[in-house]
Amino acid sequence: MATTTLTEPKTTAGTTAELLQATLVELIDLSLQGKQAHWTATGPMFRGVHEQLDVIVDDARTWYDDVAERLAAIGVAPDGRVATVVAGTPLDPAPQGWQKDGEIVDRFTAILDGIAARLRQRMAAVGDDDLITQDVLIGIGRALEKHAWMLRVQGK
Ligand SMILES: [Fe+2]
Repeated sequence: MATTTLTEPKTTAGTTAELLQATLVELIDLSLQGKQAHWTATGPMFRGVHEQLDVIVDDARTWYDDVAERLAAIGVAPDGRVATVVAGTPLDPAPQGWQKDGEIVDRFTAILDGIAARLRQRMAAVGDDDLITQDVLIGIGRALEKHAWMLRVQGK
């Protein structure tokens, strides 16, 4: 059966559904890469980095669930399949093996900054066309930028 788009609002920068789907993919990747780094961190900042990554992962899972369910609420089937995430994520692949804590801090600060920047573009694009979707994106962006700050100061 074809995908239903019963109430999908249009925006000037692609459909609301496209913006949500792009967000879904990178938040799933963030959660996976966060766990990988949680497991493979080494160094004197291990405890803090290990624990903060788990908070980020927990938040990312909540966020992508909110995004997926917003897609469903506007009548579009969310696509969180592994192949879709691999094909669509803008994040560089996680490095293999053990990772120094400082490198993790720098890499995840950049990852969170990048996602937050893309979210800001999407929340502006959604604009008045769909304030509820915009609210979802704003809430995620606010929390992402807080995590980025808390990571960034560890690397100082
Ligand atoms: Fe753990």
